[in-house]
Amino acid sequence: MTEELSELIALKYRFGEEMLSKRLRQQVKISTSPFGEGYGRFHWENLRFIPQLLKTILKGLGVLERGHQNCLDFKIKEVVTRFHELPDPFDGYRILHLSDLHLDGMLDKGHALGKIVRNLKYDLCVMTGDFRFDKLHGYDDTLTLMARLLKDLNCQDGCFGVLGNHDFIEKVPGFEKLGLKILLNESVDISRGAETIHLAGIDDPHFYGTYDIEKACKDIPSTDFNILLVHSPEVVEEAAAAKINLYLCGHTHGGQICLPGGIPILTNSFGHREFSHGGWKYAGMQGYTSSGTGSSGYPVRYHCPPEITIHRLLKNP
Ligand SMILES: [Fe+2]
Repeated sequence: MTEELSELIALKYRFGEEMLSKRLRQQVKISTSPFGEGYGRFHWENLRFIPQLLKTILKGLGVLERGHQNCLDFKIKEVVTRFHELPDPFDGYRILHLSDLHLDGMLDKGHALGKIVRNLKYDLCVMTGDFRFDKLHGYDDTLTLMARLLKDLNCQDGCFGVLGNHDFIEKVPGFEKLGLKILLNESVDISRGAETIHLAGIDDPHFYGTYDIEKACKDIPSTDFNILLVHSPEVVEEAAAAKINLYLCGHTHGGQICLPGGIPILTNSFGHREFSHGGWKYAGMQGYTSSGTGSSGYPVRYHCPPEITIHRLLKNP
């Protein structure tokens, strides 16, 4: 048996046969057609002429170069969130949150990002999907670049991620060999002495429909503090119903090309606009949507800098 086949069989037991076959079918359809069968049927980013058209327009307007430079002008955002339920040993806990890296499409292939994260202090690193940009080519470039980035990360409680709509599930073993554990409707415990918090993650809800919050949270006691990683802000209501404390996501890129004041033109998301970037609350749950660390579609940003987020959790007395 080949290594690839045994890895696929292991994924089948872990993710479920029905879910795995559904995702693999969707991957083939979505990556080759603008009219896929995912959540929302029309995927404009698969129309290859749009980036070229955008480039021509921006060049004509004389803002193309500035837009490229903005993609590497990372902003480090510290976000403080307070919780009654947070156990005492986690008061001040720091989480590095990277999202939508699209590393193969990053103009400098992640060099500047690596230099920045090397010097940050945090306890845990989470990545909310879309590691790759180009869905029509292989994954080798992305895995090579991820290997380098992961060497620049250093934290006590490790690195965890979820898949986005640009990511293919058969590459999960590749990520995990590099030290990035992917949560496929699963959870892990993080302990400090006798106290534990729980980190759950679901598969991408944007295209594939193969997410399962109930399964991801099945081992989490209902009174314990928990965090849910999701690629997009499109299952906020379901997560709140499942009593999630903190929902971390990305996918929208905050609009990436915004009007002055950071007002998004498009968010490529079916969630409410109030969840499209930054911090938000819904039915007792707190959430944060990253504006993305990388860029998608065409590598330009306006009025929407790429972000490296540090979440600082504080106990509400
Ligand atoms: Fe995405």
